[in-house]
Amino acid sequence: MQSTSETAVADLPIPNGWFAVAVGDEIAPGEVAIRHYFDQDLVVFRTASGEVAVVDPYCPHLGAHLGHGGRVEGELLRCPFHGWRFDTAGACREVPYAKRIPPNAQAKKWPTLERYGFVFVWRDSEGRAPWFELPVVPESSSPDWSTHQRYDWVIKAHGQELGENGVDPAHFRFVHGTLNVPVMDAKEDGPRRVAHQPVEMRTPRGDVKGAIEAHSYGMGFSTTRFTGICETLEIATMTPIDAHTSHVRYAFTQPRVNGQDPKGGVAAAIIRDIVKQTNEDVPIWENKVYRERPILCEGDGPIAQYRRWCQQFYPQR
Ligand code: FES
Ligand SMILES: [Fe+2]
Repeated sequence: MQSTSETAVADLPIPNGWFAVAVGDEIAPGEVAIRHYFDQDLVVFRTASGEVAVVDPYCPHLGAHLGHGGRVEGELLRCPFHGWRFDTAGACREVPYAKRIPPNAQAKKWPTLERYGFVFVWRDSEGRAPWFELPVVPESSSPDWSTHQRYDWVIKAHGQELGENGVDPAHFRFVHGTLNVPVMDAKEDGPRRVAHQPVEMRTPRGDVKGAIEAHSYGMGFSTTRFTGICETLEIATMTPIDAHTSHVRYAFTQPRVNGQDPKGGVAAAIIRDIVKQTNEDVPIWENKVYRERPILCEGDGPIAQYRRWCQQFYPQR
């Protein structure tokens, strides 16, 4: 029998904030795609001029799924059922067989942003407008930084559990085989959070001392800068597929050497090590229980502080 302080699956709600729903290049101009996040379908489309939009799937007319047979025509999305056409704000702009457009013919549009090669939507269970912003990340579009290297995982765990990894110094030695238990300090500022941590990274030249600085903007987006031997920026997104499953994406970029993307060597080893660490975390995440009141000890990281910070992104009950 399980006690009341543990559940087989974390009983945590789907958080609010900015979340990546696609990689920008996956959606070409004129393309319509279905994505499944936040326990529902979303329809993502890109107009002929390149603007990307995300709407709820069901047409306000008679409920056809806009992602199954819907087509982009110029700047509009045409419903497959009766041909109504919607703009990127979700407003119906044309009913092909009527002179008047019903005033509330409006598909639900998700606030959308395209940045760092990803398409983000704003999700808020209470319908509030975005109450924080995603940052400018100069390296992500700089010609001095390499082409993004992307990785992604679908993980059977809640995003809070994944993020907690970053405030849990003691696991590094046992899960990732690092030599020490790094100290860590973290500061919160509303929806933002900065964590700083000295680390040792395993490379072909042996273990090298470096530092990790992670900036989070809500639970769905973070940038992590690794310094020490080869500067690396990891842009990470976490998007809830449902309350128990997360889609995690990483995009790595590093300084170019003589105008070229770095090849092999230490640069590649760092990325390999970060990816390896995530692969090592997955079986822990997917098989653990969520302890609401864990027994913590000296040397554990700021876990309670991190969990309090997460609360602001949950539906206010
Ligand atoms: S259901 Fe979309 S136009 Fe009729
Ligand atoms: Fe880890």
